[in-house]
Amino acid sequence: MPRVKISVVGAGNVGGSIAQRLAEKNWYDVALLDVIDGMPQGKALDLLEAGPVCGYDSIVSGGNHYDFTAGSSVVVITSGIARKPGMSRDELLETNTKIVSSVVREIVKRSPEAIIIVVANPLDAMTYVAYRASGFPKQRVMGMAGVLDSARFRSFIAEALKVSVDNIQAMVLGGHGDSMVPLIRYTTVAGRPIEEWMPKEKLEALVKRTREGGAEIVNLLKTGSAFYAPAASAVEMVEAIVRDQKKILPCAALCEGEYGFEGLFMGVPVKLGEGGVKEILEYDLTFEERAALESSGKAVQELCQQVDRILMNK
Ligand code: NAI
Ligand code: 2OP
Repeated sequence: MPRVKISVVGAGNVGGSIAQRLAEKNWYDVALLDVIDGMPQGKALDLLEAGPVCGYDSIVSGGNHYDFTAGSSVVVITSGIARKPGMSRDELLETNTKIVSSVVREIVKRSPEAIIIVVANPLDAMTYVAYRASGFPKQRVMGMAGVLDSARFRSFIAEALKVSVDNIQAMVLGGHGDSMVPLIRYTTVAGRPIEEWMPKEKLEALVKRTREGGAEIVNLLKTGSAFYAPAASAVEMVEAIVRDQKKILPCAALCEGEYGFEGLFMGVPVKLGEGGVKEILEYDLTFEERAALESSGKAVQELCQQVDRILMNK
């Protein structure tokens, strides 16, 4: 069976790590692109040379011009600036709007049938930028954040309870920012509600740590932001699509009526498979959960309005 071609734009920390994970699966050929001359070429060659040791035949190529990305099934967009200590994701808005919109325009010329997964921050707004710039149907443009935020929450719970991460089911919805919404009522450990496993205060501390999970790593690294877990999360989405797994994952998807949002990219439970977003699932929410999601939606909407202004003044 021919390998599926995946392009990764931005060969920095997240992009390089995504390329490695994809290559190691041996299902994919990977095109790694960056504006820095020589860097994507060097990383791609290095990954290609790891093949004999790791046992993969994936072709990994690197470059600075979009032609070699042509015919990609999925394109993951990580190009953009990342946070430094003290910076919020929103401060990245102007620079990354320009980067993501120009990247997407180049991508769609060469891969008109591709599915786009955005990783660049601020995530929900950058997914909206990609949607606008691509002209693609909503099923083929989505953003990665909820998988990462949920993975963080799951790993903190597993650590606190000393159980396997496999036993933890959790879903973090909303925008990828301080207002994200971990759904406590739907969080279970081996099928049993999380509230039966730990006192309320402990759970609240884990929710807080999840909300601040990105900043915790930025403060430790000092020169950039997280990349191993973000890369793993993006690859889980690629895999769900390419292998038509119909996996239900929290992703930024265009809501048109779902959860009361109109025309807004938000973190919601999505069934991912062939063709991209197959369906947005609407969970029953309590008044408080709905209010939290609405407030997160407002924050995303404000960023999208800023995006509109930036794109208009360009
Ligand atoms: P990085 O700085 O290591 O890599 C970004 C790369 O993009 C750089 O190599 C840069 O040269 C490249 N780039 C910049 N402009 C470009 C252009 N026009 N075309 C092609 N490449 C271009 O940053 P890192 O850590 O890889 O993060 C990338 C982005 O992903 C950031 O915006 C970061 O905030 C975001 N991020 C989002 C996460 C999420 O959960 N959605 C998680 C982790 C990071
Ligand atoms: C994170 O959550 C920086 O958004 C990135 O790690």
